Amino acid sequence: AMAAERALAMATCTAPVNIAVIKYWGKRDTDLILPINSSLSVTLHQDQLKTTTTAAASRDFTEDRLWLNGKEEDVGHPRVQACLREVRRLARKRRGGGEDAAALSLSYKIHIASENNFPTAAGLASSAAGYACLVSALARLYGVEEELSEVARRGSGSACRSMFGGFVQWQRGERPDGTDSLALQVAPETHWPELRVLVLVVSGEKKPVGSTAGMQTSVETSPLLKHRAEVVVPERLAQMMRHIRERDFEGFGQLAMRDSNQFHATCLDTFPPIFYLTDLSRHIIALAHRYNAHHGHTKVAYTFDAGPNAVIFALADTVPEFVEVVRRSFPPAANGDQFVRGLPVGSAALPQELLAAVVTEPVPGAVQYILHTKPGPGPQLVDDPSQHLLGADGLP
Ligand code: DP6
Repeated sequence: AMAAERALAMATCTAPVNIAVIKYWGKRDTDLILPINSSLSVTLHQDQLKTTTTAAASRDFTEDRLWLNGKEEDVGHPRVQACLREVRRLARKRRGGGEDAAALSLSYKIHIASENNFPTAAGLASSAAGYACLVSALARLYGVEEELSEVARRGSGSACRSMFGGFVQWQRGERPDGTDSLALQVAPETHWPELRVLVLVVSGEKKPVGSTAGMQTSVETSPLLKHRAEVVVPERLAQMMRHIRERDFEGFGQLAMRDSNQFHATCLDTFPPIFYLTDLSRHIIALAHRYNAHHGHTKVAYTFDAGPNAVIFALADTVPEFVEVVRRSFPPAANGDQFVRGLPVGSAALPQELLAAVVTEPVPGAVQYILHTKPGPGPQLVDDPSQHLLGADGLP
């Protein structure tokens, strides 16, 4: 059928979470979200952690509307509006200004529904996956195929890195207009098949200071952050790329831990100081170092963002033993059967001398559960129309 105009159009995409191993902290332009340093992350697999977003446009919609996890939210949020404006601008450019009768009208109001396959309460970074998914779904809706990490960046800085799978660099760029502040894939998710990720979801309170406000105070007050951005990160970025290229876990893990620690040092150097690490985080850090010391080399590496959960990198053959170490260190409450989630974990018996050297002072119940995952692909289009989050009436 050759409809002159489409009455209702809908597109659904999924997008991943990413975890930085060279951290982004600090903006040189808060409106365009331009960072003071480049960063590098690992995209996590969507089987365990993903956002799904449906975007619909119709001539019958009377206003723009947005639902997050089933609850209606303010669509006027400046960062949502920035993403919408930029995708529409790319669509207009693509159409060369002329009116294409078959193309979806850019003047129609839109409805957006977005859901996470993990509890938001778990405090897992959801804004990166959320904005990457919003931009992917909108781009699909309007038939835009351009480079989109620059648009996702306008939603949340770290979101630009969720536009690719595997190992991803966000280049800080030099231009004031941000056109060179983009994400690039360093290596695909297939590059390092043995790499695994354990998210230690801690029994959670909400984070005290959000990233956006926290990093701005750091930029204004921390001389360590300035040194980090100008001197430390450029060197580390080159090193990290080499460790990834060579699949050198020892090098990768050590640098990831050092960079997480330096990020949290800049938080302490911020005035007034910001604290994201807790007693439990420090407990997990010490545990990882005792474990590595016992084995005589780096078998696990931790990293922490602006929240209390620990993310651990390890190679697949280390996972069963280290999971058992975590289980012994943070004995779960009675319903311990759900303690390990995600990819299956084999069982391991802990040698007595390892137990004695590594598992000191157990803290019952401190870790809620462990999510076992691995590097994964970038945003995906969902073809099956039964998976749309909006019905034919455009409502959730
Ligand atoms: C500690 O991307 O959430 O996770 O750009 O203001 O939205 P905004 O900040 P956001 O900051 C993430 C900071 C971090 C480190 C990282 O992911 O690189």
